[in-house]
Amino acid sequence: MVSSPFILQMLTLLMVVVTAHSEKRAAILARRMVNLQSSLHFNSLRSDDIPISMAEYYVASDTCSDVEGLSNNGDPILLLSKMSTSYKNWHNNGTISVTIEKPKMGHFDGIMGKPRGIFFGKLRELHLSHENAKRLAGHFLIRHPDARHWLPDDHESHVHDTRWFEFEVQSVYFVGGFGDRSFIGNISGNVYHQDLRDDESYPCHEVNLQDALPKEVEGGSRSLSQQSSFDGFFQLIKTLIMNY
Ligand SMILES: *[C@@H]1O[C@H](CO)[C@@H](O)[C@H](O)[C@H]1NC(C)=O
Ligand SMILES: *[C@@H]1O[C@H](CO)[C@@H](O)[C@H](O)[C@H]1NC(C)=O
Repeated sequence: MVSSPFILQMLTLLMVVVTAHSEKRAAILARRMVNLQSSLHFNSLRSDDIPISMAEYYVASDTCSDVEGLSNNGDPILLLSKMSTSYKNWHNNGTISVTIEKPKMGHFDGIMGKPRGIFFGKLRELHLSHENAKRLAGHFLIRHPDARHWLPDDHESHVHDTRWFEFEVQSVYFVGGFGDRSFIGNISGNVYHQDLRDDESYPCHEVNLQDALPKEVEGGSRSLSQQSSFDGFFQLIKTLIMNY
């Protein structure tokens, strides 16, 4: 007869395997969400210990594979002004997190059923070569054309105190949607950052937004041929449809 401790052990093992599998799947969804979105909420502590949240722009490092000096592992890359509340609070007290969510798509859509995550980690200032900073700016401007007014070290920039930062994700509290159907829980930094390219359901590395937008987009794909911009554009549409 099989002893009950044995069955319990097997059940525990099964649960560990299932949890690990759903954590990896959640990591894929979280990375996809981060790669498709481009703004986040930067959560920081004010000097009176009250938590506050400010909208900030970012670009996903996964979509900037030609920039050396970034991790290319799903970390968001932010451009912060030293005058901003987010920067000042972080500078006074490094206790921060960022929130990223998939927005609702129409009147009858609801954000409660959509993926969202709180990302815990640390902000690291990037010191990029001139070449790499230019490439990064190109990727950033595709998502945020208005940010051309406050790029760092740019003579035409109106604001001269902005800096590039990588938000190094250490863990994620991820809500995949409604609890009965979706993963709700923690994703470790290692699982979030792992190379997910072997997974066929993971299109992130195929999406190069630089390829995906037409030539007129400022700072972007000027060197690309019209043809490849076009292919890229369809690739982007396909990915968007697959993800929504
Ligand atoms: C940040 O503020 C919290 C709350 O006052 C405090 O517990 C923590 O030690 C502070 N951290 C730093 C790095 O100052
Ligand atoms: C996630 O991690 C936090 C911090 O370690 C912990 O307090 C919380 O219970 C965890 N949540 C789940 C659902 O495991």
